[in-house]
Amino acid sequence: MTTTIKSAELREMKSDIKKTDRAKMAEKLGDALASTYVLYQKTQSVHWNVTGPLFVSVHKLTEAQYEDLAASIDTIAERIRALGAKTPVGLSTYVKNSVIDDQVDWGDAKAMLKQLTEDNLAVADQMREFVKTAEDADDVFTADLLTARIGALEEASWMLSANL
Ligand SMILES: [Fe+2]
Repeated sequence: MTTTIKSAELREMKSDIKKTDRAKMAEKLGDALASTYVLYQKTQSVHWNVTGPLFVSVHKLTEAQYEDLAASIDTIAERIRALGAKTPVGLSTYVKNSVIDDQVDWGDAKAMLKQLTEDNLAVADQMREFVKTAEDADDVFTADLLTARIGALEEASWMLSANL
């Protein structure tokens, strides 16, 4: 599923970014927000429940990562508003529109790290796709924002996998 935003509902504003492009970009950012929200919760799941010899390092690492994700959730959500659209809300909305699956059963520390390593990369790959939309719309700020997020997610993935 993907976020749906109608361009008719967007705020009127004078911008070189066309209204239809702002709507399209807001939809992509809605999906990026959903994926980031689910990843945030999954990172906390590991932070809370990891056990074993890797506990201290993984517990600390995931704390830094979920704090970074929380900050980025706000940045993405407010960019949607700056583009003139309403930000999608509701946990069920996020689960439905996320590129990664919500998860309840996790397994051991190794399985947790493997899953989060893959999830971070999956969200980065989704955002890489959205950078193209931003560039096509001359939305340089969103392209920049998403590019920075890709770097953070790929770094997070590497740090998680280095514990394996
Ligand atoms: Fe904590």
